[in-house]
Amino acid sequence: MNRTITIFDTTLRDGEQSPGASMNTAEKLRIATHLDALGVDVIEAGFPASSPGDFDAVSRISETVKHAEVAALCRASEGDIDRAWEAIKDAKKPRIHTFIATSDIHLEYKLRMGRDEVVERAVAAVSHARKYTENVEFSAEDGSRTDPDFLCRIFGAVIEAGATTVNLPDTVGYAVPSEFGELVRHVMANTPGMENATLSVHCHNDLGLATANTLAAIAAGAGQAEVTINGIGERAGNTALEEVVMALHTRPGTFPMETGIDTTRIHATGRLVSSITGIMVQPNKAIVGANAFSHESGIHQDGMLKNPMTYEIMRPETVGLTTNKLVLGKLSGRFALRSRLEEMRYNLTEEELNTVFESFKALADRKKEIVDEDLEALVTDVVLRS
Ligand code: KIV
Ligand code: ZN
Repeated sequence: MNRTITIFDTTLRDGEQSPGASMNTAEKLRIATHLDALGVDVIEAGFPASSPGDFDAVSRISETVKHAEVAALCRASEGDIDRAWEAIKDAKKPRIHTFIATSDIHLEYKLRMGRDEVVERAVAAVSHARKYTENVEFSAEDGSRTDPDFLCRIFGAVIEAGATTVNLPDTVGYAVPSEFGELVRHVMANTPGMENATLSVHCHNDLGLATANTLAAIAAGAGQAEVTINGIGERAGNTALEEVVMALHTRPGTFPMETGIDTTRIHATGRLVSSITGIMVQPNKAIVGANAFSHESGIHQDGMLKNPMTYEIMRPETVGLTTNKLVLGKLSGRFALRSRLEEMRYNLTEEELNTVFESFKALADRKKEIVDEDLEALVTDVVLRS
């Protein structure tokens, strides 16, 4: 029986912390509705104590979402927790997500607290949240740079106080996969009561390792992945939902795990988030980039036309694209050209094709991508000449 990984989407909370990515309530509602249809298990809708606008958005999302749990973030203080609950109380499945930093550097310079005091604050916060709901998540901010034994101690204490999910964030994107996987193993093995809670991970992408770290953590036993659409988020972003989900989907032998995600909705959701936030997706971005299913070299195009699996590890339809794209350019071969012309309903003789191919190569030296209009002009020219 495969393990099921809980997909916790924080596009509307941590994703909104991307520079320039603020969204209004109506926009957040549209994204939340798409996330619900995509099949995410938890939608982190916002941080209600941070502003009246965020409170309003979280309340509206809570009233609207049909299937997913709706989480609200709050610091480990009664006032924040009360505000979070007020915003999510009408959700079908509300979750309170409270956090406090646990690394020595954060304790000394930011919180100015000792470890005992931090444990006390965390336990008090979880106990207070439990008065409202049984669904409480606790995050140890800067967890990857926290003393592993202290991490186990604080997680054990909050689980005893009623936390049902404990989250280990790599807040500053400092972790590397081998160490992060080891840390997850250590926490799973040494946290008292861990068998009564889900261990979650939340990675940032400062070294470009967010997805790799998340997968290492899942392989080591983590049961929840915190992610955002297109990987948007603070600084270099968060783990991208589409990358984790498609890695699990494409490599079932390595990751015998399932998610509830309808992968065919991945592209549409990515496009929506990009158009609402104004954050462009880089063309070579895995899964959702404009070039993710494009093939330009002649050798690749030839292979693709014979059997797509020669150069494609997943079908574009799986992520909601209708087709892949053979980009015609100077590296393309005759086979790819003929195939595109046939799709355009041109059936040329061998001789005509040779002439078009020659002009095509000459044009491709001057113009990076040859589009259908260029081909029409080339064919018309050849047919008129003959
Ligand atoms: O990166 C982080 O540590 C966070 C927590 C609040 C979960 O976003
Ligand atoms: Zn974060």
